[in-house]
Amino acid sequence: MNQSEKSNGPIPLSLLPDSAEVGSRGELRIGGIAVDDLANEYGTPLFIYDEDHLRSRCSEALSALGAGTAYAGKAFLCVAMARLVTEEGLHLDVASEGELRTAIAADVPGERIVLHGNNKSVGELSLARSYGVGRVVVDSFDELRRLQELHDQDGIVSPILLRVTPGVEAHTHEYVSTGQNDSKFGFGLESGAAAAAVEECIANPGVDLVGVHQHIGSQVFRVDSFARALEVVVGFSEPLGLPELSVGGGLGVAYLESESAPSISEWGEMLGQACDSLGVQARVSAEPGRSIAAQAGVTVYSIGTIKEIPGIRTYMAVDGGFGDNPRPMLYGSGYTAFAPSRVTEDRNAVARVVGKHCESSDVIVREASLPENLKVGDFLATPVTGAYGYSMASTYNRMPRPPVIFVSKGESRLVIRGESVEDLLTLDVD
Ligand code: LLP
Repeated sequence: MNQSEKSNGPIPLSLLPDSAEVGSRGELRIGGIAVDDLANEYGTPLFIYDEDHLRSRCSEALSALGAGTAYAGKAFLCVAMARLVTEEGLHLDVASEGELRTAIAADVPGERIVLHGNNKSVGELSLARSYGVGRVVVDSFDELRRLQELHDQDGIVSPILLRVTPGVEAHTHEYVSTGQNDSKFGFGLESGAAAAAVEECIANPGVDLVGVHQHIGSQVFRVDSFARALEVVVGFSEPLGLPELSVGGGLGVAYLESESAPSISEWGEMLGQACDSLGVQARVSAEPGRSIAAQAGVTVYSIGTIKEIPGIRTYMAVDGGFGDNPRPMLYGSGYTAFAPSRVTEDRNAVARVVGKHCESSDVIVREASLPENLKVGDFLATPVTGAYGYSMASTYNRMPRPPVIFVSKGESRLVIRGESVEDLLTLDVD
C-alpha cells in the first residue's frame, strides 16, 4: 500500500464512482448532483455513495462469481445497503450481532445470510439459528461444541461451512492477511485441524456440513495468490464431496492513479479457470466487500485551517480524519485528494492533508496534489472511501460520526444520519 502519489493532472475519473461527471462550473457531479451542493445541503464531513455504482458491482459479482455469492457487510453496512444487496440478488455476509441485526432490520431473508466470526457468542449463534441463517461459517472447535449444545436444547440443525486456512500468504498487509498457518481464523489444513473438524462435524448432530470456506486476506492484487490457495483447499475439500466451496473475499481495489486492480469479472474468470483446471465439482461462491463498495464512495470535508511552514510543507486541516477514515493510520494506506468544485484543474500544489484529531498520526494524505490557492472554507474530497471507512469510523475525541447519503439519478437520500454530540452523551451515566 503506497503512502503517497505525485500527479499534476486533474483527479482521474477512474478513481471516482461510475456516475462521476464534470458539470458546467468545473464541479464534480455524482448521481447527477453537484458534490458541493450536497456538501452544502448535508454538511461536512459527508460520505456520498453512488447507488447505481453499488448496484452495478453487485450484479457484476453475481454474474461473475455465481449464485450464493455474498456481499461482505463489514466493508460498509446499514439497513439501506443490506436492502440494496438483497434486491440485487446477493447474499449477505455478517460478522457480528450488530451486522446480523442490521440484516434482520432490512428484512434480508434468513437463507440469504452467512454468519462469520472467529469467536461467535452463544447469543450470536442463537439469534442466527432462530432467524434461519442460511450458512454459519464455523471457525473453531469451541463453536462446534456451542452449536451442539444449542441443538441439544432446541433441535435446530445449522447448515455450516468449515473455514480452513490454506497456509498461503496473500501478499497484502500483515493486518489483513488471514490465509497463513499462523492465524486466529479457521482450521489449519497443515496441522490436521481441518481434517479433525470434519470428523467432529460428522459426529455432531447440531450441524450439517455443506461445504468448505477459505479467505486468504484483503486488498489482494495478485490473482495467483487466490489460485494457489484454491489449489491447496480443493485438495482437501473435493475428496469430501461436499456441495459448496466459498473462496471468501479479498479482491484489491485501486486507491491511487498509480495502482490498478483486476475487475470483479476478471477475478471471477480467473477463479473459474482455476476451479475448472482443478476439476472442482462443488458450487463455488465468493464474498467480495471492498470491490463492491470502495469506489462507490467519496468523503467530502471542509478545509478549516491552512498552515504553511516555510521550507518544510503546507498542512491543510479538514473537519474529519482519523475518526472517519483510520485506514492511513492503521495500514499506511495511500489516498488521494481533490477539490470537488474544481475537478478539471491541474493539481500543481502539494499539501499534507490532515484531520482535526489530537494526534500527529491523523494524516489522511501525506503528499496530496491539489489545485493552487485552495482556501479555508473550500471543500476537499477523498475518493475510494466507500469500503472500511464508515464501517471503521470511531468517535475518537468525542467527534460524532458523519452522515451517509446515497445519490442516484438526480436524487439524494440520507441512509445514515449524522451522529450528534447529544447521541454520544446519551451513553453517559451521571
Ligand atoms: N470474507 C471474510 C471471511 C472476510 O474476513 C473478509 C474481510 C471478506 C470476506 C471481505 O474482504 P474484501 O473483499 O472486502 O477484501 N479493515 C481492512 C480490511 C479487513 C478485511 C476483513 N475481512 C481494511 O480497511 O483494509
